[in-house]
Amino acid sequence: MSEQNLVTIYIDGQPVQAPAGTPIVEAAKAAGIEIPVFCHHSKLTPVGMCRMCLVRVGTPARTRTGELELDENGNPVIRWFPRLMTGCTTPITEGMHVEVNIPEVQDAWRGTLEFLLTSHPLDCPVCDKGGECPLQDLTFAYGPDLSRFYKPYKLHFEKPIPLSELIWLDRERCIYCSRCIRFCDEIANDPVLDFADRGRGQHIVSVSDVPFDSYFSGNTTDICPVGALTTEDFRFKARVWELNNVPSVCPHCPVGCNIVIGERAGDIKRIMPRQNEWVNEIWMCDKGRFGHHFVRAEDRLTTPLIKGEDGQFREATWPEALDYVANRLSAVIATEGPLAVGGIAGGRAANEDLYLFVKLFRDVLGSPNIDHRIAWPVGTGIEQAVAEVGLTSESNLNALGKGATILMLGTDVNEAQPVTYLRVRKARRSGAHVVVAQARRVKEHAEATHTLDYRVGGEAHAVVALLKAVLARLDEPFGAYKKLDGKDDVLAALEALSQEDLLAQAGLTAEAVEAAAEAIASAEHLVVMVGREALVGAGVNATTLVDAVVALLTATGKAGQPNSGLVALWPHNNTQGANDMGVLPHLLPGYEPAEAIGADIDAMLTGAAGLKAMYIMAADPVRDRPSSRAVLENLDFLVVQDLFLTETAQLADVVLPAAAFAERDGTYTSYERRVQRFDEALEPPGDAMPDWWILAQLASRFDAAWPLYTLADDVMQEIAKQVKRYKKMTYDNLEGEPVVWSTTADRHHIYTGTATLNSWFGRQWEVEAEARRPKFALRWHDLQAVEDAEGFRVVPQTRLYDNGTLIRRSTLLDQRRARPEVVLSAADAERLGVQDGDVVRLVRDGVQVEAPARIGKGVQPGVVVVPVDVDGTEWNALTGGGLEAPVVRLEKGAQA
Ligand code: SF4
Ligand code: SF4
Ligand code: FES
Repeated sequence: MSEQNLVTIYIDGQPVQAPAGTPIVEAAKAAGIEIPVFCHHSKLTPVGMCRMCLVRVGTPARTRTGELELDENGNPVIRWFPRLMTGCTTPITEGMHVEVNIPEVQDAWRGTLEFLLTSHPLDCPVCDKGGECPLQDLTFAYGPDLSRFYKPYKLHFEKPIPLSELIWLDRERCIYCSRCIRFCDEIANDPVLDFADRGRGQHIVSVSDVPFDSYFSGNTTDICPVGALTTEDFRFKARVWELNNVPSVCPHCPVGCNIVIGERAGDIKRIMPRQNEWVNEIWMCDKGRFGHHFVRAEDRLTTPLIKGEDGQFREATWPEALDYVANRLSAVIATEGPLAVGGIAGGRAANEDLYLFVKLFRDVLGSPNIDHRIAWPVGTGIEQAVAEVGLTSESNLNALGKGATILMLGTDVNEAQPVTYLRVRKARRSGAHVVVAQARRVKEHAEATHTLDYRVGGEAHAVVALLKAVLARLDEPFGAYKKLDGKDDVLAALEALSQEDLLAQAGLTAEAVEAAAEAIASAEHLVVMVGREALVGAGVNATTLVDAVVALLTATGKAGQPNSGLVALWPHNNTQGANDMGVLPHLLPGYEPAEAIGADIDAMLTGAAGLKAMYIMAADPVRDRPSSRAVLENLDFLVVQDLFLTETAQLADVVLPAAAFAERDGTYTSYERRVQRFDEALEPPGDAMPDWWILAQLASRFDAAWPLYTLADDVMQEIAKQVKRYKKMTYDNLEGEPVVWSTTADRHHIYTGTATLNSWFGRQWEVEAEARRPKFALRWHDLQAVEDAEGFRVVPQTRLYDNGTLIRRSTLLDQRRARPEVVLSAADAERLGVQDGDVVRLVRDGVQVEAPARIGKGVQPGVVVVPVDVDGTEWNALTGGGLEAPVVRLEKGAQA
């Protein structure tokens, strides 16, 4: 709050300071004075629709010459407006007087409530909002004891109707505040709700073909101030006061939205967002909200399993299973050596699990063959780049606006990291430049101030061309970084590249690149987001793309500066943590270079590493990379630790049941490198145990001199000592101080799933660029020419509702789940005689799949866009499990 903007107003005579222009209701709220609201919401544009916030307003009178008029005592004369004013749409000015606690205002509030209740069904005893309903609370506080309107006045609608299969609408309860409509229009950019009809018959309708077509629909139920909007997931499941609200972190994507698990009787009744203005504000996507059913899925593993000679699993006790695993691994190591053992840990495991996984492999088994990058290209160097020039600690994407530029490279955040879309949209609405560099149309094009529509394969060339154009604009390139090793080599390499050639390879015009370069070179804050598509598409040039991004951030001097830096849009919720904990063959925890460099995931899963035994935790390579099946089948020994008997687990010799995120505590690290705590809300099913516990028990069978870890907190304490970047982080200080957000200090303004107090906001670790003398070198790998493909290049597209291990257990989302399809350009469709809906066949290396074709806007000729992980393993075999950009043959299918 800048001091020169502060003005003083008087509410019932009490002086209150707030920035000029603040709505009266917000200034009052900040001073602890309640003015009731319904349609007002601090995250939405004021509309003044409900008239709940009426107050008496006066301003100091002025003479014709502009002097303050003073009374006989020398005090300003106050000129009162003739009628009551809406406090939500009236901005404060210096010396304004507001009267709240006077009969006229209290009468108005009583009258508004009486009016709003004229047609309200008063079915509070069966309404899911009961107990957290602003209408109920404000009626108790300010409403009339009796209504002059009786039953015959009430207008009846059919009782709740589905707005979609996720959201129900009770039109009788609606008070026409339009919060839901404004949320969809302003925040989500999904203008799919509207009012229909007028007068008392006015009601909310969905206007999209797929009903309520938005990935953020659940948020409307949070901010609806009555029980008009409720979720299918929570309707009639529990009364809100019965819930045990446990702070947690969403396990689905790397945004790391803060959530509250509403637990009752050992079950998750609902998931709601927990306010964290640095991460998700008060929002979350529907995947996070409704995708929790895997936790209580009936097919969860509940006991260790050992495969017998007959190939059948039998149940085992923990001691039996762990002894067996230790003996078999010891036998392999004794005969083949430690390098015959490899480990894969998934990026959905917690930091505590990943740390002990690395410790088990490197210190106990003696093998550096560890990796987690099952859904991310290997060898790009982006893990290290994030540690060097990642988004600076204490950054807040929520604060980006005028003066900031966000460069989005090969991203599709609405599908892959949805709340990111809300943040980018907010930044653009606050004045930031958004440069969208993509090869196909994505939702964030709606937010783009600049676009770079490069051709598939030309991603790296596009970024290098951009870098050259930016450098040409800088007076003192690399200013603060001029002593960085490698800088001169980078400049020399760039000098040798012709901009004309780069543009031709990237398929871009000089004008587009120059305009984007200007937005970058002149930016006060620069955030670069890199999506998987950029790296996959760039192929052999992906490493150069990363080199160029690091050079861009250092050349502009933005590396290490607040609200600037690189954000890698990782595939899993804790991929960043997996990097930090050193689940990599070449780096130790904290990005220290490893002396013993192991086999990477490609070498392990293709068989090139020659492994005899593997330990796989929280990953399903057979599903993600079907070609790995034969390699895993040929191992002498395979252990899988997971929630479910996955396709990989079915091949295992031993299966160990793990606890889900809601059943244990731990930490995840978001893509902003924010380390965040989550807490245990439920007991694990059967004998399932947290991953860290299983690993610690196993290590004890090898006589490892490990301390006794009895809690996840014990492991975190060791991480804080051993991992440089996590220094001094403790569960206590990750909680931080409880904050009462000014935006939510009053639950009538908003409901966010928590009471007004909140904490557990996490901490971002510092990147190398923030050090006084940063120690990293710029790297450069030569660019290779983009070759024309013989066939169609596949762009593997992440879809929010795929068929993955966790999300497919939420049957509520079945109707929205992405189906197999092949999206091609209109030119190719015409050439091949394919129409929308025709079945086409994709063929690659003996694998073939058929799916309906769709002609997509903005798809390049010679390219097919194919959703990843939406069907069985054959489909994944074709799309390379989302890793490679394969080339396929496209033929007309059976019915085309
Ligand atoms: S459904 Fe709820 S949020 Fe939407 S207009 Fe009605 S009361 Fe307001
Ligand atoms: S954006 Fe990501 S972290 Fe947030 S709720 Fe959705 S899936 Fe979860
Ligand atoms: S008119 Fe002010 S809150 Fe509705």
